[in-house]
Amino acid sequence: MLASAGAEVTVWSGRGEAPGPTDLLTGLAQADVVLSLLTERIGDEMLIAAPHLLGVANHAVGHDNVDLEAATRLGIPVSNTPDVLTETTADLTWALLLAAGRRVVEADRFMRLGHFQLWGPQLLLGEDISPGGDHRRKTLGIVGFGRIGKAVARRAQGFDMRVVAHHPTSPNRVLESGLAEPVGLGTLLRESDFVSLHVPLTAETHHMIGAAELATMKSSAVLVNTSRGAVIDEAALVDALGDGQIAAAGLDVYEHEPAMAAGLAELPNTVLLPHIGSAARGTREAMAIIAATNAMAMLRGTPAPQCINPAIYASPEYAARIGRPSASEPRQTN
Ligand code: NAP
Ligand code: GLV
Repeated sequence: MLASAGAEVTVWSGRGEAPGPTDLLTGLAQADVVLSLLTERIGDEMLIAAPHLLGVANHAVGHDNVDLEAATRLGIPVSNTPDVLTETTADLTWALLLAAGRRVVEADRFMRLGHFQLWGPQLLLGEDISPGGDHRRKTLGIVGFGRIGKAVARRAQGFDMRVVAHHPTSPNRVLESGLAEPVGLGTLLRESDFVSLHVPLTAETHHMIGAAELATMKSSAVLVNTSRGAVIDEAALVDALGDGQIAAAGLDVYEHEPAMAAGLAELPNTVLLPHIGSAARGTREAMAIIAATNAMAMLRGTPAPQCINPAIYASPEYAARIGRPSASEPRQTN
């Protein structure tokens, strides 16, 4: 798309490695627009060193890898790829929830290792998701009731679950959805059988789930994270899983991706995926089209359709970048 629109495209070819800070610094200073992946950490200093940069088109809905505050201050548009990956990521959240709750991966390993010698009533017991034999409706707690959180809640209806959600800025949105009850984080952690995280990574959500929070959860609870790794204190999670404070975890994301906290990989009660929440063919293609459409708009100096800091289009900093009079400057009339 970009090449056929006349853009000169340089693709990072790092032989399996993401560009390091020096590569990024050089690339940003040379390019008119950068189409970034979530692995690229674009900080304040890199944006300052790129006075001609016309935009950052991130190929992800999460944009914690880009310093949005700095970009906005400097008049640089930043865009993301929302909506098209909502259902795909909600599906994967459920894959993790079901797999961790019912020990699917552990059972698969058991089979492959030839350990299945005799069926028994205690074999690989997991946690019910539907009311099951004890006829108790299970509670799903959703932290962050945005696009993906809501899509996860919608799927819970098929499992006849009680759904509670923590969305402090607008509990009414939870109520009006008819899908969940609004609750505080403390209540959610205490009452939920399954907890699923769907907040963006911000200073406020960093380590939102740490040792203190894990200690309040049920010992039968399953924690699922398809948001960002650092929302959980991963070392504290390893301890909680090892000590039986919670039953299991299903993770798609890690605090220091691609590395995992020491001990996590050895725990049998975890299902671990390599950040594949939106990794379905049609979705990745749609994300690429959105990212390229945003990048082309940035190159042309028109508003990017999925710009997340659109106020910059009226700023003198943006106007200076593209060499136009600012929309906020008084127009000269004769
Ligand atoms: P979204 O629609 O913006 O939803 C996030 C919600 O979290 C928003 O409604 C936001 O509230 C809420 N929130 C923010 N801070 C909170 C807090 N402290 N406590 C409770 N709620 C809080 O975003 P989305 O499209 O659902 O995506 C969510 C995140 O999932 C992304 O940021 C990304 O990191 C991650 N993700 C991961 C994958 C993957 O491959 N694993 C794929 C897609 C997305 P407001 O409405 O008030 O802003
Ligand atoms: C993936 O993690 C995304 O934020 O799109």
